[in-house]
Amino acid sequence: MSTAPGFFVSFEGGDGAGKTTQARLLADWLGAVTGREVVVTREPGGTDLGREIRRLVLHGDHVAPRAEALLYAADRAHHVATLVRPALERGAVVVTDRYLDSSVAYQAGGRELAEDDVERLSRWGTDGLLPDVTVLLDLPPDVAASRRGGEPDRLERAGDDFHRRVRDAFLRRAAADPGRWLVVDGSGDVDDVQAQIRVDLASRLDLTPVVSEAVRTAGDAPRRESR
Ligand code: TYD
Repeated sequence: MSTAPGFFVSFEGGDGAGKTTQARLLADWLGAVTGREVVVTREPGGTDLGREIRRLVLHGDHVAPRAEALLYAADRAHHVATLVRPALERGAVVVTDRYLDSSVAYQAGGRELAEDDVERLSRWGTDGLLPDVTVLLDLPPDVAASRRGGEPDRLERAGDDFHRRVRDAFLRRAAADPGRWLVVDGSGDVDDVQAQIRVDLASRLDLTPVVSEAVRTAGDAPRRESR
């Protein structure tokens, strides 16, 4: 867990689970209820260097599994050092669309590298920074696939078994650390899923007392986009 004055929320889940939409809606709400600066970001690609890595890892040719793990870890190391930690130290709320658990789910679960190795790599890269709360948007891979539009990227083309292993890995990690994870069924409509996330998060972060105050100030909070 982060010891900085801000707080750190990550969204995780399979491709097409709706993380990006839900992360943005949650960020707006957290800005309103806390009155803090909110930074919305993502992995891979939350920084200039990360955008280069994102292009290589998602839109390039074949990448060997260990190289893939190192590229995601490099993106994360730079992201944390230059964007996430400074924001947390300013007292901001940081909401990231994917973080370290994606590496464990995709590169260990999906690519079948050793889970300990993949986790250790990211923990080293980030100097041990973990989210205060991780929201898993859970959805069966076939439903998630049917929601995706456009040309599939390299990871989206990895096949049904790969995506089943990714989902199982996320669910196993969530079950092993219920203090950090909130598992939310991603199959409902956008507003229902968001409402569920807010209720769960408010009680987890002890925000309930400030929610009524926030009704007055909703929409006033500053927001900074990093992408
Ligand atoms: P993302 O931009 O979240 O794609 P989508 O919006 O389609 O979910 O993530 C890009 C892809 O990178 C996604 O397929 C998951 C994969 N990924 C990893 O394999 N390992 C990682 O550590 C991260 C952060 C992402």
